[in-house]
Amino acid sequence: MSTRHFLNTQDWTRPELDALLAQAARFTRERIGRDLAGKSIALLFFNASMRTRTSFELGAFQLGGHAIVLAPGKDAWPIEFGTGTVMVGEEEEHVAEVARVLSRYVDLIGVRAFPKFQDWSLDRKDRVLNAFAKYADVPVINMETITHPCQELAHVMALKEHLGDLKNRKYVLTWTYHPRPLNTAVANSALMIATRYGMDVTLLCPTPEYILDPRYMDFARRNVAENGGSLKISHDIDEAYRGADVVYAKSWGAIPYFGRWSGEKPIRDRYRDFIVDERKMALTNHGLFSHCLPLRRNVKATDAVMDSKACIAVDEAENRLHVQKAIMAALVKGAAQ
Ligand code: CP
Repeated sequence: MSTRHFLNTQDWTRPELDALLAQAARFTRERIGRDLAGKSIALLFFNASMRTRTSFELGAFQLGGHAIVLAPGKDAWPIEFGTGTVMVGEEEEHVAEVARVLSRYVDLIGVRAFPKFQDWSLDRKDRVLNAFAKYADVPVINMETITHPCQELAHVMALKEHLGDLKNRKYVLTWTYHPRPLNTAVANSALMIATRYGMDVTLLCPTPEYILDPRYMDFARRNVAENGGSLKISHDIDEAYRGADVVYAKSWGAIPYFGRWSGEKPIRDRYRDFIVDERKMALTNHGLFSHCLPLRRNVKATDAVMDSKACIAVDEAENRLHVQKAIMAALVKGAAQ
């Protein structure tokens, strides 16, 4: 039987996701457990993190397990991912050995590897994550690559805590300005999980260039067909915010400009008004606001929005701990069966 990974929520059925959320809710009430007793997880960070690292390390500890954090290229050897590469460059070992050796030591492997932001046709292959999934003999968890499935579960858990049933709630995923082009991972993920839970989703972005990769737009359309709800694209801020139950903000780089970002900069600089502010939130149906964090205040959202009762970003961040414990426990249990 092939190893079960947690790479993308689309690989998991709705009942399976619901079971993870139910277990996560139990972990909010009972934080200490033995689900990972004697087990360990290697957390490979190719990029920086605050929440993901802290919540995975702490989550493993609270369930009786142990986490080992590695930063390849910094405190661990740089890794080669190519096939058939003559390794005369900086990389000292191949992912085949890294994944196989770690699989002899640990029970789970977490991977964070952002895009290189040079060529989307390469980045969209999610090469680092898929290589670990290919070569590892233990379950691999996506800690954010070109999607962020752990964030998805934490997000939907926070929405359910505040709204109950999510079906046909109006959900706005809004692009926001940021001085640099950022990863599309959280936006892809928000689109997938909101449509998975039957919400009426509006993707609000400045121009058609900011529409997300067709793979994720197609997942979202398929989710609507299977779960109800709806999906539309808007470039009209007020129309999108009007009556919204949820506003989820994220900045991302326009895919047609990957690798030639100087061409994108004048476009993004024109749309600083996409900031989430009190005027826009007043158009909503007493809507909730959230963001995956980290967030630049008064660039993506104002102080007033961040400090308002509508803001559930910290609840969502807390839920990272609970959902990741549920994911680790489920994967370890599955591997033992
Ligand atoms: N939201 C999130 O993944 O936070 P970090 O980048 O701090 O891990």
